[in-house]
Amino acid sequence: MDHATKTEIALGQKIAPPMLDWYDQHRRHLPWRHDPGIKANPYYVWMSEIMLQQTTVATVKSYFEKFTNLWPDISDMANAPLEDILQEWAGLGYYARARNLHKCAQTIMQDFNGQFPETEAELLMLPGIGPYTAAAIASIAFNQRAVVVDGNIERVMSRVFKSYAELPKERAEFYRLANLATPDSRVGDYAQSLMDLGATICTPKSPKCAICPIQPHCLGKLEAEGLPRKAPKKIKPTRKGLSLWITTLDGYLLLERRPEKGLLGKMPGLPGTDWIEGQEPDIDTLMQKMQFLPKLEHQLAEGEAKHTFTHFHLFLSVGKITLSNTCDLPHNYFWLSLDQLDEFGLPTVFKKAVSLAQR
Ligand code: ADE
Repeated sequence: MDHATKTEIALGQKIAPPMLDWYDQHRRHLPWRHDPGIKANPYYVWMSEIMLQQTTVATVKSYFEKFTNLWPDISDMANAPLEDILQEWAGLGYYARARNLHKCAQTIMQDFNGQFPETEAELLMLPGIGPYTAAAIASIAFNQRAVVVDGNIERVMSRVFKSYAELPKERAEFYRLANLATPDSRVGDYAQSLMDLGATICTPKSPKCAICPIQPHCLGKLEAEGLPRKAPKKIKPTRKGLSLWITTLDGYLLLERRPEKGLLGKMPGLPGTDWIEGQEPDIDTLMQKMQFLPKLEHQLAEGEAKHTFTHFHLFLSVGKITLSNTCDLPHNYFWLSLDQLDEFGLPTVFKKAVSLAQR
């Protein structure tokens, strides 16, 4: 439906004023947030929005602080080696975000003289910035009117307007409703008020309608838990693999720098087989690849490390090999002192494999 009814328009206009009042009193105090009325730092807004794309606020806080300490502004980030950024990103997952963070910083230095563009259309052209992020940055950092729609905001809209549109196929309907409710001023505060409401009050389960600032206007409150409607989730396939925990008696661990292309590209990891669906790990090919080692028999650790990526579940077994001392390595492998392992930025899947090996 393209045209809004008079009822929808009237309802849309009732939402922003109580949301902004509520935000002034109850907003979450987050490290990237400015106080109302104070100009936001676009670099902080951008960094936080990229980190928050797939990750909770609680997890993002410490990463945001670490990143802004290491790279206080966009030129610092543009000049940093990609490997350093990936390494510090370890644990957040979805590493394409870190690669794009770097690419985007370099584009802004080269093509925009180090200044973030302020319009949604220009922001959309930057690496790693999709429609949600462009709207969020335009509104929060530059107070431009932009319709910000994330999962929280879809939920709030589905309930306030009592929409039975189904996600993900009718996503456009939530954009249409969100547009009706978006004000012309304090747009960034308004968007963030909805995010906070979605995270604390208009939650997927057991929403706290009794203390919701827009409950008097909410058409869906009696069936809130059933909204928004969602198509059943697709079942993810399972892959299997074997990682090697190769240590030396003098306290080193063998790691590889993964190939640039492919999953966890350029990240450090335990060496191992490919991860394949419907097949046991191909140990022969792995052993051929590892012939630079003096000893190849491994002992299987008990159990499997389980990790879920966007498109598949992984069951990873771990083979343990102990060598008397380190040896020369091909260029994509390196030895890490076991003392440094806890602080070293290994992707979570390999941290799980490490715990299994050390049990
Ligand atoms: N989730 C994504 N962006 C956010 C923001 N700016 N504040 C709170 N939660 C968010």
